[in-house]
Order: sequence, then structure tokens, then C-alpha cells
Amino acid sequence: VSGVDLKRTASQIRETIAGWRAARDTIALVPTMGNLHAGHLSLTRLAAEHADRVILSIFVNPTQFGVGEDFEGYPRTLAEDRALIHRAGTVDALFAPEVGEIYPNGTGAAFTLGVPPLGSELCGASRPGHFDGVATVVLRLLNIIAPDLIVLGQKDYQQLVILERMIADLRLPIGVVSGETKRDADGLAISSRNLYLTAEERKRAPLLHRTLREVGDRLASGERDYAALERAALKRLEQGGFRPDYVEVRRAGDLGKPNGRHAPEELIVLAAAWLGQARLIDNLRVDV
Ligand code: PAF
Repeated sequence: VSGVDLKRTASQIRETIAGWRAARDTIALVPTMGNLHAGHLSLTRLAAEHADRVILSIFVNPTQFGVGEDFEGYPRTLAEDRALIHRAGTVDALFAPEVGEIYPNGTGAAFTLGVPPLGSELCGASRPGHFDGVATVVLRLLNIIAPDLIVLGQKDYQQLVILERMIADLRLPIGVVSGETKRDADGLAISSRNLYLTAEERKRAPLLHRTLREVGDRLASGERDYAALERAALKRLEQGGFRPDYVEVRRAGDLGKPNGRHAPEELIVLAAAWLGQARLIDNLRVDV
């Protein structure tokens, strides 16, 4: 059942890649932390549309978790993940390295990337160092695999913008393709961390998406008092039992603060909020 070619080391995956390169195949990387769901599968399908070969990586990266965060408890389901992508049929190789393979000198003495100020805003404000860890691990994966393109989800929109900027700034010859957020029927963005919700919290969780939609609708209809819209959204989430980290309206292109009367399509609303043990994030481009 488990089928898909599993590579555990950099030299194993590089050997596979060398064969593909000899055949002039193009390669897409879909980096994940595993516990795969419909969102990841849609990214692998997108990858397969853009490249001859698709590598999916599964690596729960210790350097992007803060003290007291869920690194130890993060769901690790390699056998199920492998069976799932085998059935989906869109992945050519699975790269699932151990920590020592990605950080050969350990994580304490590793070279790390420092992300520009955007890395300390939004999710970075409550997760210091998180985006340094994300950039560091993605650069390491790109160095091992040297793909033609990387496929990333829009649910982690800040991560997407930071990684696009990293790739451009470090002059990596790698394209970025991004895939839309997959949602359950009630609007909740699909995420591995939804597992942490109790049944009762799960029923309340779609309020996050609904609240973003309300802000989006008001922006689309011309409201531009961003601070008032953010305050109203925070209040609505608190009343719904969430503990919000932030709700912010930003420029969609670079996540800068909107500094005037932007056209609605230039704007994005982003939020992170705790519901019980789960820290949920979501975002919405403003529809026109
Ligand atoms: O989005 C994720 O799952 C992770 O942040 C990533 C990009 C795989 C890096 O560890």
C-alpha cells in the first residue's frame, strides 16, 4: 500500500534527482510538515501541472517552533501520509529526513537566516524567530533538492510572501507557485492543527473565516477605517470564544500597512486566533 518512493537522506534523494535531471525532467518541491490533508494534496496536483516530477518533503522542523509550542505534540503520521500520496498518484518521491540530516551540526550551532522586519510582524509578533526557522529550513531543502519550482499554500500567506522574497533576494533560480486555501464545507481552512479542536470548538471555528469575510465585504463596499474594522473583528472573535492574536488589513502584494485609499483588490485581511489548544490562522483577499 505504501508505494511512493521514500528517501531518508540527502544523498538518496539527490541520486533520484540526478536520474530525472539526466532525462531533462523538471522538478517541483512541495515542502510540508506531514499529517497530510486535502490542502497538501491540492498542492501536489498543482505541482504536477507545472513540473514533470514532484517531490513532497515531510519534515517537522524544530527551529520554527518556539519554547512551549507544539513541536513534540505535532502529529507525525508518516505511514498514513505515504499511503495517502500513493493513492493520490501525484508524487514521485517522498523526502522525509531525520533532524540530523537537515541540521548536521545540530540546531543549536546551525547557520540560520535572519528574515527582514516583516518576519517580526503579524504571526512573527507572537512567534519570535518562527520565520527565521521557516526560511532556514526551506533554504536547506532547496539546497538539497535544487528544484525548478516550489509550491506553497496561500493559507500561510505571510510565509508565502517571506519565502518569495527570500528566493528573489538570494537570487535562487527557483519559481514559486502558490495554491488556494482548501476549506471544509463550513468555511474553516483545512489545517493539521484543526485536530486540536474539541467537537464543540470545531463547531465554533468557522467564525474565523466568517469574520474575515465580514471585514472583506466592508472593504469591498468602500470602508477604509482599517483600525475600526480590525477592532470590530477582534471583538467579534472574542465574543465567539476565541483569543485573537491579531486581525489586520494589509497590502496583499508585500504585506505592508495600507497607507491610504487602496483599491479593494490590493488588500488582504489576515488573522490568527486561539480556540482552545489550537492556534488557527486564516486570510482573505478582498473580492471586488
Ligand atoms: O508550511 C509548512 O508546513 C512549513 O512551514 C514548511 C514550509 C514546510 C517549512 O517547515
